[in-house]
Amino acid sequence: MTNEAILVTGGAGYIGSHVVRQLRRRGEPVVVLDNLSTGFREAVGDAELVVGDTGDMALVRDLLARYGVRSVLHFAAHTVVPESVENPLKYYGNNTCHTRNLLACCQEAGVEHFIFSSTAAVYGIPEGEYCDEDSPTAPINPYGMSKLMSEIMLRDLGKATPMRHVILRYFNVAGCNPDGEIGQSTPNATLLIKVASEVATGRREKLYVFGTDYPTPDGTGVRDYIHVEDLADAHLRALDYLRAGGESITLNCGYGHGYSVREVIEAVERVAGHPLPVEEAPRRPGDPPALVARADRIQEVLGWRPRLDDLDEIVRTSLEWERKIARGEAYGA
Ligand code: UD1
Repeated sequence: MTNEAILVTGGAGYIGSHVVRQLRRRGEPVVVLDNLSTGFREAVGDAELVVGDTGDMALVRDLLARYGVRSVLHFAAHTVVPESVENPLKYYGNNTCHTRNLLACCQEAGVEHFIFSSTAAVYGIPEGEYCDEDSPTAPINPYGMSKLMSEIMLRDLGKATPMRHVILRYFNVAGCNPDGEIGQSTPNATLLIKVASEVATGRREKLYVFGTDYPTPDGTGVRDYIHVEDLADAHLRALDYLRAGGESITLNCGYGHGYSVREVIEAVERVAGHPLPVEEAPRRPGDPPALVARADRIQEVLGWRPRLDDLDEIVRTSLEWERKIARGEAYGA
């Protein structure tokens, strides 16, 4: 491997692998660090894969030096909200403490650019439907808190060292690479479109609608669903921005409009061509009624534009991938 690779932690996971693929497509040298706890070797394509933990300082030091790393994209994290409530230290350990170790190594090695996967979960239950980057942060679960703590470390480090960062706060990421090469195979997924796709392909018995009495137009939760390919593109633009000397910044990643759970189910039924077995269930603890991005800043600062803002297309790619898994043709089967 040549010098000056980009280090992508968690590059074998759902979102990380989509970013790795786009980076490789434009010829960037990439080294992936992933412990394969929820990621897949096959997902990294032709990028170099090193199996290990982001908290392993000896390993990370070695990688940063060996590959002449100047830019780090940090995806590696646990992401299941209910699990974070049951086992908070797992989340503070992997998401916060390991990020701290990674940052310490980056500081030592003089890494210049750091792109961090954060989440709309930092907003907790917002006052209105929309959140901009200056909305108050008040996470309501350890997952969101573990990410907010990493954001804070990064901002403090940004004041103390020359390293510049982009914090990307993801809203509801969904869909897969339209070519069907990589997809969302994370085990025990809880995300609505993934779960609905599993139901549509018969891999799960039924879909539960968590809460039908929210103060939303049809009583179900409203979210801002962003296609993973558009989100991946935002990372490449964030990297270009930092390389061009851009200041550290925090940006929402969403489309700026929401869909209800019922609207998502209708889309899955439309695309699948048959109804889904659906059952109404109580609200899921910790779910805000509505969470939608104010997404002007990312467009202004990065020149990013939504290209796949189409719920049916998001669902189509998710369903295609799920069918591949069902046929035993995709990893995660
Ligand atoms: C996800 C992210 C979170 C992020 C948030 C941004 C994960 C694990 N969570 O959470 O980090 O901050 O988006 O908005 O990545 N639902 C059902 N039935 C299901 C599954 C979900 O009715 O089987 C409903 C939920 O109650 C919610 C909506 O669908 O109203 C979306 O839920 P989900 O896909 O789990 O994402 P979030 O909880 O919003």
